[in-house]
Parts: sequence; C-alpha cells; structure tokens
Amino acid sequence: MMAPSGKKRPQAATTFILLCILSSFCICKAQFKPADSYLVDCGSSKSTTVGQRTFTSDGASPVKVSTSQEILAGTSANGVASFDNSALYQTARIFTSPSSYTFPIQKQGRHFVRLYFFPFTYQSYDLSLAKFTVSTQDVLLLSDFQQPDKTAPLFKEYSLNITRDTLVISFKPSNGIAFINAIEVVSVPDDLIIDTAQMVNPVQQYSGLSTQPLETVYRVNMGGPKVTPDNDTLSRAWVTDQKYLLNPTVTKQVVYGKDVNYKKGGATQLTAPDIVYGTAAELAASNTSNALFNMTWQFDVDAGFSYLIRFHFCDIVSKALNQLYFNAYVGGFSAQNNLDLSVMSDNQLATAIYIDVVLSSNDASSKLGISIGPSTLNNVLPDGILNGLEVMKISTGGSAFTVGSGGGNKNLVVILGAVLGGVGLLIIVVVLVLLCRKKKTLEKQHSKTWMPFSINGLTSLSTGSRTSYGTTLTSGLNGSYGYRFAFSVLQEATNNFDENWVIGVGGFGKVYKGVLRDETKVAVKRGNPKSQQGLNEFRTEIELLSRLRHRHLVSLIGYCDERNEMILVYEYMEKGTLKSHLYGSDNPSLNWKQRLEVCIGAARGLHYLHTGSAKAIIHRDVKSANILLDENLLAKVADFGLSKTGPELDQTHVSTAVKGSFGYLDPEYFRRQQLTEKSDVYSFGVVLLEVLCARPVIDPTLPREMVNLAEWGMKWQKRGELHQIVDQRISGTIRPDSLRKFGETVEKCLADYGVERPSMGDVLWNLEYVLQLQDADSTVSDVNSMNRIVELPSQVQNVGALESISVTMAEAGASNEPDHDLSDVSMSRVFSQLIKAEGR
Ligand SMILES: *[C@@H]1O[C@H](CO)[C@@H](O)[C@H](O)[C@H]1NC(C)=O
Ligand SMILES: *[C@@H]1O[C@H](CO)[C@@H](O)[C@H](O)[C@H]1NC(C)=O
Ligand SMILES: *[C@@H]1O[C@H](CO)[C@@H](O)[C@H](O)[C@H]1NC(C)=O
Ligand SMILES: *[C@@H]1O[C@H](CO)[C@@H](O)[C@H](O)[C@H]1NC(C)=O
Repeated sequence: MMAPSGKKRPQAATTFILLCILSSFCICKAQFKPADSYLVDCGSSKSTTVGQRTFTSDGASPVKVSTSQEILAGTSANGVASFDNSALYQTARIFTSPSSYTFPIQKQGRHFVRLYFFPFTYQSYDLSLAKFTVSTQDVLLLSDFQQPDKTAPLFKEYSLNITRDTLVISFKPSNGIAFINAIEVVSVPDDLIIDTAQMVNPVQQYSGLSTQPLETVYRVNMGGPKVTPDNDTLSRAWVTDQKYLLNPTVTKQVVYGKDVNYKKGGATQLTAPDIVYGTAAELAASNTSNALFNMTWQFDVDAGFSYLIRFHFCDIVSKALNQLYFNAYVGGFSAQNNLDLSVMSDNQLATAIYIDVVLSSNDASSKLGISIGPSTLNNVLPDGILNGLEVMKISTGGSAFTVGSGGGNKNLVVILGAVLGGVGLLIIVVVLVLLCRKKKTLEKQHSKTWMPFSINGLTSLSTGSRTSYGTTLTSGLNGSYGYRFAFSVLQEATNNFDENWVIGVGGFGKVYKGVLRDETKVAVKRGNPKSQQGLNEFRTEIELLSRLRHRHLVSLIGYCDERNEMILVYEYMEKGTLKSHLYGSDNPSLNWKQRLEVCIGAARGLHYLHTGSAKAIIHRDVKSANILLDENLLAKVADFGLSKTGPELDQTHVSTAVKGSFGYLDPEYFRRQQLTEKSDVYSFGVVLLEVLCARPVIDPTLPREMVNLAEWGMKWQKRGELHQIVDQRISGTIRPDSLRKFGETVEKCLADYGVERPSMGDVLWNLEYVLQLQDADSTVSDVNSMNRIVELPSQVQNVGALESISVTMAEAGASNEPDHDLSDVSMSRVFSQLIKAEGR
C-alpha cells in the first residue's frame, strides 16, 4: 500500500505544477480542456469535421448505443448545404423503439449536452413525422417532441450538472420513430454557473442554480457579429441582436478595437469570448434627449418557466470612470438600478463582468422583454450599454423543460410566440416608412389571414386611460403587449367578472371594464364558453390583432387562455364610443371640428388596416359604435371581430353569410356577397352622415323615407341641401365650403359601386381638406354671417352651384372684412398646407 502511494506523490506534485502552469496559461489564452468531450455524428460511419472540431463516427468507443435496430440514415449534401454545421445534419440515426446513447463521465459537474435535429426523408422513414421524447436518467429534455419547422434544422443546448459516472440519453418514439443527427456531451468549467443569482420579483437572492438543469434558449452578442462555435471558448454559438431589438433607432453599435480586461472574480474569457465583451449596443445619441428611451430586446419564451438571465457588460464606451450609470430591466421588473460598471470592475474601464438575474415563472409571459434604460440620477448623461445576453430556461421541478403532454395549449403558446415575436418588431418603429416596410415583410411571413371571430352586435367596447401602448416610442411595458395574463389576475381586475362592470355584450361574449393592480384600466373581452369559437379562432384573432399596431386602432394588451378561457385584454378607452357622443346619451355634444378630427382619426385607422400590411385587412363592421375615444377624444377603431383580409384571398372573401351591421352595409356586398376595402368605405360614409346628423342610421320610428340615414342623407346631398339635415347643435358653425366638401366626400363613399368609391386614403385626404376649410380663417367664423350664408344653398338645386355660392360668400366676406378674404382659403393655400402636412 505504501509503495504505490509514495510513488504517486511526486507524480501528483508534478501534475499539480503542470496544472498551475497550464491554468495560468489558460487565463491568458482562454483555453479550456474539457474532461469529457464527446462529439458524435449520429448515423455516420466516418468521422466528420465541422470547423475546427471533429465529430466521431456513430458508435465509436467509448460511447455505447443500445437500440433494437441499427438504422443509419443519410441524405444528400445539397439538402442541408445552407445550414450552419451542415455536415452534421447529413446523417441521422433512426430509432423505432426506445433506445439510448451511454456516455462515460470522467468528471462530474456541469456539462453541455447539445442535440442536433434535422428531419429528412430516408427510404421509408419520413423523419418530419417523428414524435418522440428525449431524456437523461434525471431530466426530461424533450417531451413528445416534433420538429416545428420541417425545413430547418433544430439545435438544442442544455447545461446539466451530471453527478453520475455515466450519462444515458434515451430516445423514446411516441408514434413509431425517433431520430438524432448529432450529440455533444462536453464538460464546462465548474464556475460557469454559480449557485446564486438575484431574483427580480420579489427582490431576493435565488439559490440552488448549481444543481438545476438549464436550457439555453437565447445567446446573443449585442451590437456585435455572430459568433460561431469555433470562435467561442466553449464552442458556443452567439447570434446577433438585431432581430430581437424593438427600437433599433434608439440603439447604436459600438466596437472596441482593443483587448478587454478580465479581473479576478469577474467574468473570464470562458464566461464569454472577447468579441462579446468587445462589442456592445449603446443607447443612441446618448448625449441627447433621445437617450431617454429604453433599448429593448424581446424574446419569445415559454410562459410558465423560470428563467436565468445573464447580462454581459463591459464598459467600452466611457472615457473616464464613474460616468456611465444605467438601469436594466427584465420582463418589466427592475434588475439593476443606476448600475455603475466602474464599481463592479475594480475601477478599470473595459472590464468584463456579468450579472445573473432570475425571473420567476409567475412573472414570465410568452414575451420576455430585456431593457436597458438611462439612469434617473441627476448630473448623469443618459446612456446605457449591453454587451451580451444569455437566456436560460430553468427546468420545472428540476427535471423537465417541457410542460406535460398537454400538447394543445403548448402548441398555442409556441404559435403565439412565433407570431407575437414577429409583431414585436413592429411596435416601436419611429419612422412611419420603416413601420410600413417592416409590416409588409411580416405580413408575408404569416400567411394566416382569415379572421373569423364573430362578435356581431358588440355594441360598446369602450374604454381607458390612454396607456402608453401603441406606436409611441417607449411602448409601455416593454413588450408586455401580447402578454399572457393569468386567469386569476383578470378575475381580480374585473371584480370576478362582475356583471355591473360589463361595458359591452356581443355574440362572442361580454366585455368588462377591468383595473389591473398597477391601476391600468383595461377592457376585458371574455369569450362565451358557448360561443362556437374554438381555440383556433381565438389564436387567429390574437394573431391578427397583435399584428396591428396603430395610434388609431385600439390595442390588444394581452390575452388569457388558461382553463380553456378565451379572453382578450384591450386598452381601455375612457370616453366610450363615438356613437354615445352623437346621440342617445348625456355626453356633451362634440363641435364640428372635434367631430372632423374623430372622423380623420378613424379614417387613419381604417386606412392603416387597408394598406398597412401586405394584404389588406377589411374591418367589415365599421360603425360609430366601433370607433372609440380616449380621454383626449383621440379616435381609435375597435373590434376587428369581423375583420378579414382582403380580396387577394381566393375563396375566403366570398362570405357565406352577410355580416356587418344593418344600416351600414355596402349594398354591393349584399348583391355580390363580395367583400372589398370599398365595403368599409361605404360604411364609413354612413358614419360620416351619422356624425353630421347625429341620429341613428336606422330609425324605424321615423317616417318611411327617413328611416335609413344613408338613403335620406343622399337625397339631401343630391339636392344640394345637406345643410337642412345637419345636427341642430352644430349647424350654425359649419362653414359652407367645409360642409360642401364633406357632403361630396360622403356622396363618393356611398356610391353604389365599389369601384366608384374613393380609397380610404382619399377619404382621409378629403376630410383633412374639410377640416382645413373649416379652419381656414378663424376670424371669419362669425356665426351670424355663417348662418346667413349657410342658408343660401337651399335656393340652388344642384351641388355644382355650390362652387359659385362659396365664391359669392368669399366676395361677401371680402366686402365686409377685406383683410380676411375667404377666397384665400381656396386651393393654393389649403393645398400647400396639405402638402406640407403630407410631407412631414
Ligand atoms: C453539482 O451538484 C452537486 C450537488 O449535487 C454540487 O455539489 C456541485 O457543486 C454541482 N456542480 C456544479 C458545477 O455546480
Ligand atoms: C473566427 O475564427 C476564424 C478562424 O478561426 C477567424 O478567421 C475569424 O476572424 C474569427 N472571427 C471572429 C469574429 O473572431
Ligand atoms: C453628442 O455627441 C456628438 C459626438 O459625440 C456631438 O457631435 C454632438 O454635438 C453631441 N450633442 C450634444 C447635444 O451634446
Ligand atoms: C424602461 O422600462 C422600464 C420597465 O418597463 C420602465 O419602468 C421605465 O420607465 C422605462 N424607461 C424609459 C425611459 O422609458
């Protein structure tokens, strides 16, 4: 016994010295020699080199494969050529019964387990149909997994603390076949994941990470290039951040040309490679007020899991110490307040550090927003940076990364995630042009277009303090739109769906007023369990709604699909419907300018629906009850419940049932049951009349010729006597040329044939003109003279004559008040104003 150990001691010493030399070498060169390093190209009979790494052939010792049937499959190099690491996807091992790979573990502790999947067809095996479960002895990695995209490879990376002598990765087919293209099992440095992190809500220490299995869901190099495994110290891949960035305009990329510093106790080159720390996203125009916005990256994640978020920081932007202070947020919660990197980096600039933060599953929605925002400290220039970010999913109960086998719900989440993710890009675009362009690209990506929710007769979806959602730059809670609400939260917000809080009812269900804990008012639309709408349609509605972001559209804030509920949460519009401001309520009446502004806002919203996406979206139920007003009387179009994408669709635009509201309905739609944007234009024309006359569109109590507002209004318009039916409360205040132009616009909208009607854009333009005419010269707005002039048209018999009337009026005005010649109002000035407005 003595002899061998005595012999061993000097050897151990040598090894120790060697290790020391090696490790000091490691620190400067960032080399890490993993104790375990298995790279297996599954299904391949020879080894495969990818970049600087070599994957061994399948079944090479000491890795053991146990399976009932050896199926080594291959596909052509062409089929996979466009993928990263393409060679790995060219072969696969197929399993037809429960099978496994066994890896001897030399050194217990954290390992990366990386799985590569690409479903090709091999002989009679169509791998895209494969559905299977992948697990280790301790952790369920994938449950009833099916490749979401059959045309793209899928890569999964897990970080597992392996405390056994072998790792067994099992594959269990659920419907006949399972497969795998490549596997990596590689040791990682023990200190890569430390046991504790800071939790954001409640703010407290989170511990236990060292034993917890993690799945890497995002690894991003902010402001820098993509990093391939060859360029990373632990063969990790880092992607660029652009596609997650919500507001690229407030962000700029920074590249540090020099070596960054590493300090003891901080990050090492193994934490992240130099290129991650040496590049950053910084708040743009950091010395101007522009920097007062957050930069936000938004990621699709599975709700219901906790996440470990690792921020990588390195102050490569400051010229001196203690000048950069900023805040970091995770999922809307503060993660760092007035963070001063100088302090954390032992007072050395350009020093790499990282900060771990845990977001608990209670707070994780399907959108994870990560923001960096300026500090609120006085005497500090607004600025902020982020160099890199890792988002790791913490498995539930320490053992699973997937929610049970409740497939349906999970699919919904996945789909929603994908959809909302795309939308995320849209919400904070500042430049309108940019917005349109991006929108178009997105629309193309999502071909789902049919929007079948019928919420017929939903009368007053009214409501809410204008929250900061919408197209404002800050986007409210950083991606909390599209937020998945817990049912309990909505129960609380609506006083347990109190009937007294109902603000609207429709075929789909009821709309409740709600107040969230942070006092935000919301409108909660709860699907009636008896309604025929299935989860699919619900999903479609969310998909459609969340793609639509506009100042003049009521925003969807979130949804809830818990317990088979179908609940949509909208921003609350304080002042209710336009209708309630026209007649049938005690609301104070709106003046002509306010009415015009509301019409212009609504027209903008509709114009956006028609043109803002690659495919036109037709509202299908334009009416005054679907135009809502916020506390500033800003109009927003609501209830796309009947919305459907426009005419390019083959079958779907031929409706089987005529929908929409009686009195507003396009006669052509009736005749041909064909829906175009021009149907909305017709309905909008009826709304314009409603606004002018302040009476219901159908009023059966009136004499027969008056029942239908559209018919009645057109009769007067055609006679050139529209002023006769104007709402008494405003009739004296409308300037004749403003009314004339308005009447003409209504008439065009109500043309019998869609082709004769203007586009929503033209309508908008005309209404702007009407407003300009009203505004044209405020000093001439002497009510008496206006009244007198307004009476004039009744003596003429056709609309054309109105032209001469306005000239007459102008002359009349000129004779009394030469300085305010109304003819001035005419074309040139108005047009130049309009052109200026357009050009903005
Ligand atoms: C792995 O887990 C064990 C406890 O099971 C713990 O002692 C060890 O520190 C962990 N290793 C790492 C690298 O976190
Ligand atoms: C990545 O590595 C390759 C070769 O190892 C090198 O040519 C390239 O410049 C590296 N890229 C970066 C961003 O470091
Ligand atoms: C901000 O910085 C840029 C260059 O660093 C400079 O050109 C600009 O004048 C600065 N603006 C303000 C408002 O200080
Ligand atoms: C940045 O986001 C956080 C969290 O959503 C928010 O509280 C903060 O007000 C935002 N800051 C700015 C300047 O928009």
